[in-house]
Amino acid sequence: MRKPAIIAPSLLSANFVRLEEDIRMLERGKADWLHLDVMDGHFVPNITIGPPVISAIRAVTKLTLDCHLMITDPDRYIEDFAKAGADIITVHVEACTHLHRTVQRIKSFGKKAGVSLNPATPLSFIKEILPDADLILLMSVNPGFGGQQFIPSLFRRASTLRQWIDTQNLNCTIEVDGGVKLDNISEVYNAGVDAIVSGSGIFASTDPVQMIASMKEACAGGLSVFV
Ligand code: DX5
Ligand code: ZN
Repeated sequence: MRKPAIIAPSLLSANFVRLEEDIRMLERGKADWLHLDVMDGHFVPNITIGPPVISAIRAVTKLTLDCHLMITDPDRYIEDFAKAGADIITVHVEACTHLHRTVQRIKSFGKKAGVSLNPATPLSFIKEILPDADLILLMSVNPGFGGQQFIPSLFRRASTLRQWIDTQNLNCTIEVDGGVKLDNISEVYNAGVDAIVSGSGIFASTDPVQMIASMKEACAGGLSVFV
């Protein structure tokens, strides 16, 4: 029996002037994690939030804060994100020269260490770090913006990664991010994915609370009545 899907709404699609209300709404919807997208205008062509906003969010919720760092030279800021209250700190393999050192640094602050790959980065780039990583985040869009279209090579990549993790009996979570909505979430989950990020798929729906429930139900194999 597989574990139920972990649903991680991305706050990138939230209303930033009433963030707390949106967080309460996600709590009512029984979101599992809050996915926080940190962008620096260098690694990706967009700029979002940093440690001060994350620590403000930390002060109002007990939900797991899943911090996705789309930034160049993440080592410089890991301590700041750890102190701000992140639970999971995910860096991009494309942004790390010494990935093993970066992963160990995240763990040294008592945080879960995640490693992310862009859609065009070979999966083999994380093969050596797999025993040390707590989470691998597979991008299913090119990072930088919400609301982009899902890139289907994700299915093959997720299945291969699932095999690698299971064959070695590793305790590593597979997360997918980008373009996941109610109509493709069960297919993503069935490719062996544990945690699923959705931004516009949740926030652009008329009832985000019900949408999270429908997404969980779809992964559990149930029929979804809500669109
Ligand atoms: C994209 C971000 C995603 C984004 C997902 O760079 O990493 O987390 O918010 O948004 P949707 O679900 O709308 O593709
Ligand atoms: Zn993200």
